[in-house]
Amino acid sequence: MFATERVRLRPPTPDDAPNIFRLDGDPELHLLADDEPFLPRHVGQVRARLEKQVTDPPDGGSSVSLLAETVADGTFLGGCSLWGISAFERYAHLGISLLPEARGRGYGAEVIRLLCRYGFRNRNLRRLEIETLAGNVAMRRTAETCGFTHEGTQRERAYDGDGFADMAIYGLLRRDWTP
Ligand SMILES: CC(C)(COP(=O)(O)OP(=O)(O)OC[C@H]1O[C@@H](n2cnc3c(N)ncnc32)[C@H](O)[C@@H]1OP(=O)(O)O)[C@@H](O)C(=O)NCCC(=O)NCCS
Repeated sequence: MFATERVRLRPPTPDDAPNIFRLDGDPELHLLADDEPFLPRHVGQVRARLEKQVTDPPDGGSSVSLLAETVADGTFLGGCSLWGISAFERYAHLGISLLPEARGRGYGAEVIRLLCRYGFRNRNLRRLEIETLAGNVAMRRTAETCGFTHEGTQRERAYDGDGFADMAIYGLLRRDWTP
């Protein structure tokens, strides 16, 4: 569907439930990547959600969730999304979570670039946003590498498991995007 030489993005199927569960079942990852409370779920519930998505798009179509895997042999790397898509304002947010063993190998930047391509070219959006905990150096560096500008910091905006932490906001306009 969307791919570089190394990474492919595709919609997850119900058979991907065990891999998606590795992300969704990790409470520490949840604190980094989600702003809702962590709810323990078993793999069957993840599968049921994926089965529902076969016919009903998540969030009524305002988000698109994709799975990232290697082109070489289909090894699961993680998940990513375009969420909060506003058709009127023509912007959306990007989200990404890779398995620990997939991090720090350049995959994150490739996935973000593929999401930008999807958002700008295929959804005709004009602005993409990434919001991340100010202390999340890996996400901040990845956003910058992919051409995003640090536009500001919201003070004590997010609960990080220990207290309230600042949130760094990054934006990329289509006119500044290098395909
Ligand atoms: C954030 C995340 C997606 C980054 O993906 P990644 O594959 O690890 O990053 P990459 O290997 O593509 O690196 C991209 C850039 O970030 C830098 N980087 C990556 N991890 C880093 C780290 N822990 N500390 C400092 N810099 C880091 C790389 O050096 C590279 O910089 P460069 O382009 O200047 O060389 C990934 O680490 C992840 O899934 N983390 C856990 C979930 C998470 O935090 N999601 C974001 C929530 S908002």
